[in-house]
Amino acid sequence: MPVSIRPLHPVFVGEVSGIDISRPIGALDAAAIEAGMDRYAVLVFRDQGLTDEQQIAFTRNFGELESYQTPGHVRKPEDHRLGPGIADFSNLDRHGNIMSPEDRVWFFKLGDRLWHSDSSFRPVPAKYSLLSGRIIPSWGANTEFADMRAAYDALDAPTKAEVEDLICEHSLVYSREAIGFTDLTPEEIAAFTPVRQRLVRTHPVTGRKSLFLSSHAGAIVGWTIPEARMFLRDLTEHATQREFVYSHAWRLHDLVMWDNRATMHRGRRFARNEVRDVRRTTLAGHAPTVE
Ligand SMILES: [Fe+2]
Repeated sequence: MPVSIRPLHPVFVGEVSGIDISRPIGALDAAAIEAGMDRYAVLVFRDQGLTDEQQIAFTRNFGELESYQTPGHVRKPEDHRLGPGIADFSNLDRHGNIMSPEDRVWFFKLGDRLWHSDSSFRPVPAKYSLLSGRIIPSWGANTEFADMRAAYDALDAPTKAEVEDLICEHSLVYSREAIGFTDLTPEEIAAFTPVRQRLVRTHPVTGRKSLFLSSHAGAIVGWTIPEARMFLRDLTEHATQREFVYSHAWRLHDLVMWDNRATMHRGRRFARNEVRDVRRTTLAGHAPTVE
């Protein structure tokens, strides 16, 4: 049976059925999924119990895994719970216990509850992210997505002209500072040197323009910081208005795949005495957004 995709939201987001992604998939199915990504920007796959190896293998149908190293100060290699190629977005430490509310790793994770695009703080930002739900809390923990193509299309003409050639600076320092987490080590600050990204991106396949916003954006080249921050905040408010947002209520064994070049997302709260185990694979982007 061929892959089929039905819309889950009036603007974007599709649900894929007719495929078992724990097994190798054919080139036609991979092409249909990629075409679905170009159209919907977010795809939901239900009932896909995956091992880490299966998730990595499925991800590789769509490109190369992102292979940046996170500074060892955020989480030391010996504290990693999972193997290479897959990132741990759970609230568990390496012993499988819920992290202390005072754990610095937890502070970094809390920043993901701000609207962002994955790896926008890297010179070549990510293509797709794939998040697999292995343990789902009983309440909350939705992931929300915003369609940045629709957000761009809805800008008025003067704002479109204003944003067209703007370059922003993105860093983890800005997004952690936004939640009051400023206790970074000199090594972290050095590793989080801001990178430049265009504010308006053009999708390499569809040619659609989108706003490349993220909580990691903290400056606009040539602007004062207060003016830049206010403008970025205004644009983010515009881009995340309800009609452009889909809120994903997780079920066990969901896999959600999104295009970071066309969407922003954020995690929502859940009870901190409950386990949430979600695991992410990430595909590298093709090129910097700024020459
Ligand atoms: Fe994220």
